[in-house]
Amino acid sequence: MTYVVVENCIKCKYMDCVEVCPVDCFYEGENMLVIHPDECIDCGVCEPECPVEAIFAEANVPAQWQSYTPMNAEKSAALKGAGEGHITEKGDAKEGPQCKKK
Ligand code: SF4
Ligand code: F3S
Repeated sequence: MTYVVVENCIKCKYMDCVEVCPVDCFYEGENMLVIHPDECIDCGVCEPECPVEAIFAEANVPAQWQSYTPMNAEKSAALKGAGEGHITEKGDAKEGPQCKKK
């Protein structure tokens, strides 16, 4: 299994998740972060850290965001292959106007 970043992350990118991940398996795209499924160890510590509830265990991804599971896999693999986007430290949040903190 893996954990998956979904739509709520777009233009929010709080990156609190990055700070807690023990294996640094987040990759940064332009508008959101994604998780590399082969690197994620399913520890679950990132899920409660996200202020906008953008992280779900693969088995619990809501129906409307199912496409984010393959998207995380494809995007993280593409970024890793290109040697881009590996993020290991929290940066400045984008915190767009639509981001509603819980
Ligand atoms: Fe990292 Fe654990 Fe979250 Fe997977 S579940 S992305 S290993 S913090
Ligand atoms: Fe995105 Fe939440 Fe992490 S907004 S960058 S998944 S803390």
